[in-house]
Amino acid sequence: MNLENREKHVPVLKDEVIECLKVGRGGVYVDGTVGAGGHAEALLRASAPNGIVIGVDQDDDAIKVAEERLKEFGTRFQLIHGNFEQLAQCVQSAGIDAVNGIVLDLGISSMQLDDPARGFSFQSEGPLDMRMDQRISRMASHVINDTSEVELAKIFAEYGEERYARRIARGIVQRRVKQPILTTSALKDIIRFSVPSQYRSGRLHCATRVFQSLRIAVNGELDVLSRGIQQAVLLLSPGGRLGVITFHSLEDRIVKQSFLAMARAAQPTVVRLFKKPICPSEKERRENRRSRSAKFRVIEKVAV
Ligand SMILES: C[S@@+](CC[C@H](N)C(=O)[O-])C[C@H]1O[C@@H](n2cnc3c(N)ncnc32)[C@H](O)[C@@H]1O
Repeated sequence: MNLENREKHVPVLKDEVIECLKVGRGGVYVDGTVGAGGHAEALLRASAPNGIVIGVDQDDDAIKVAEERLKEFGTRFQLIHGNFEQLAQCVQSAGIDAVNGIVLDLGISSMQLDDPARGFSFQSEGPLDMRMDQRISRMASHVINDTSEVELAKIFAEYGEERYARRIARGIVQRRVKQPILTTSALKDIIRFSVPSQYRSGRLHCATRVFQSLRIAVNGELDVLSRGIQQAVLLLSPGGRLGVITFHSLEDRIVKQSFLAMARAAQPTVVRLFKKPICPSEKERRENRRSRSAKFRVIEKVAV
């Protein structure tokens, strides 16, 4: 992992996060997806001179990059290598029981996407890995080579909303009997051969949805999300706020429904700040292509 890569990751909706979480001096904040540390740095600056920020990430490379980037903040910044589905436990293990604000900026970072060795991108040759947490053993190559045709089609359809899911799953199964599929380019080629020719020249690359769906499956991204939100709410002090940035409709649906369920419960634990999500401005979308699909939703914990 090259430290210079962190410069390529531009935090999305940074000012909106600081404003909506009401970040101020002396507060305690958690960045549950610290990545290259862009949002964490903004939280540290906005809570100066004595605010505390705890950064959590399941990716060891991200932990190293954030550590190096934010060392100037000394003991005001603490790092935990963990999954936000155990956020309360992670943060409590650092001796902190309640916090004023939490941000989750979902998905992968540009650092992960741009590192061919991580296997997240079909744009470069690399192993079919896609694990955010390098401690887990099941990689994308295992999913591609061990999963039944029906299950593969289900993954592509459900997590990638891929219209040619069944054809692509069939193409994979036919190829893997001859030899295992181990690289990003091998998978990309199979996808290209499996879909109709007009789909190959569409605006979206024909491998985009399959790669997204595999990444979601390998990392259990949708399963951990609702647990992470519950954990975050547990950890907030009354009046504390949770903000979640999503990048596709599957994630946004889970966030929206989890927030609604808590806000409309017989004894509500949260209020929603806005009904509609905040989206990046025209300017941000122009300057940072990755921000184009971002949606930001915020809740505030109520005293019960
Ligand atoms: C979009 S990046 C965050 C970038 C960060 N906000 C910044 O400004 O640099 C998402 C990060 O969340 C991490 N991540 C994704 N799911 C996670 C989970 N369930 N638990 C912990 N970290 C997770 C990824 O490893 C990645 O580093």
